[in-house]
Amino acid sequence: MQEKKSIHGSWASRWIFILAATGSAVGLGNIWKFPYITGENGGGAFVLVYLVCIALVGIPIMMAEIFVGRRARQSPVNAMAELAQESGHTKKWGLVGLMGMLTGVLILSFYSIVAGWVLQYITSTATGALNSITSDEAGALFSALLADPGTLLFWHSVFIVMVVIVVSAGVNAGLERATRIMMPALFVLLLVLLGYAMSTDGFEAGWHFMFDFDVSKLSWDAVLVALGHSFFTLSLGMGTIMAYGSYMPKRASIGSTVLTIGFLDTIVALIAGLAIFPIIFSNGMDPAAGPGLMFISLPVAFGQMAAGQFFGFLFFVLIGVAAWTSAISLLEPTVAYLVEKFEVSRTKATIGMGIVVWALGILCLGSFNFMSDVTFFGKNTFDALDYLTANIMLPLGGIFISIFAAWVVKQKFASDEINLSSETLFSVWRFILKFIAPVAVSIVFILNL
Ligand code: PHE
Ligand code: NA
Repeated sequence: MQEKKSIHGSWASRWIFILAATGSAVGLGNIWKFPYITGENGGGAFVLVYLVCIALVGIPIMMAEIFVGRRARQSPVNAMAELAQESGHTKKWGLVGLMGMLTGVLILSFYSIVAGWVLQYITSTATGALNSITSDEAGALFSALLADPGTLLFWHSVFIVMVVIVVSAGVNAGLERATRIMMPALFVLLLVLLGYAMSTDGFEAGWHFMFDFDVSKLSWDAVLVALGHSFFTLSLGMGTIMAYGSYMPKRASIGSTVLTIGFLDTIVALIAGLAIFPIIFSNGMDPAAGPGLMFISLPVAFGQMAAGQFFGFLFFVLIGVAAWTSAISLLEPTVAYLVEKFEVSRTKATIGMGIVVWALGILCLGSFNFMSDVTFFGKNTFDALDYLTANIMLPLGGIFISIFAAWVVKQKFASDEINLSSETLFSVWRFILKFIAPVAVSIVFILNL
């Protein structure tokens, strides 16, 4: 029998899949969000909970998403509906994929605003506007950017167009190419930045801040943020990895692939934190500065470094690329679904979604200026969408996906796809999906109410 293929294309090899999935995982979540939420939630204890969530919940759920996608070779909605039906359950499971599509659209609407900040900083480093800037000046510059809806809208629009172009080009031509060179380059630049951070006198303070475990600083809300971020950072709970899995070659081993992706994503986040916090401490800045953390700390560091303008420029370019490859993956499940369901062309589907996300993004960028007094539960639109998607919708999607993979889909389907070297490992994986992941996520939800 011929191997079943996705109508959208397939990755040329296991390495290309790893590259693409890592491109999705490694993004603003690692370099922008992880440091700033670690700063807001007190450091070490938060980092530890985050690492536990990655290992115990993230890795098993990533395996589940990939196996479901690869088995069905369709967009998440149809993949879940079909596998449910083949296993004698209701096709309504497809609704989980639908919720994932909504989550992706909401995330992209604020993700694109942050990516727009990055694009602005690429320009600023290129022109030398950030050269030898002080920490006060960096703060003022960032505030001025937020106060200016025209500039934010311009960069948001540019970024959405960039995403639409790649997604309409499709799996092979578009998604693959962007990741190949840029990912290794980003990693090297992070190491350069880490080297600089180690030379500052704030390095010890930064290290202790990130790795000293102080339980008293931990609230249930912080645990929820850590849990939610483990989904966000690994692109889980909304069907992205499921969609990417549907393009994965049959022979590639899911277990080792997932470990590689999880490791790379985690190491990038930790290095980003270790690069940023020493800069914060040696310049007397506030680790809890919020979403602006990266944008006020890094310019100061580059300002003091030899060839800082060059490195700064390169660094923001690479963050921009990392954001780009992630943003692409936020849209992919929805576009694949629209193509399957309505038989529209990929280009039409992508442009349509691009317009939706663009419009929603305007509400997010307004949070910092003309809509600053619009709040939901005390959060502006930007923060509210970030909180809702990362801390509620993704974990909820994750619970459903683990229940689906372990309770609904025939065990035979799972064991065919998840070719682990030992029976015991397979049983452990199923046990985690069946009990640990759903129960742990539910407990964290309940304790937050
Ligand atoms: N994982 C990406 C990041 O860390 C964000 C993302 C979330 C991408 C969900 C796709 C799906 O930046
Ligand atoms: Na990530």
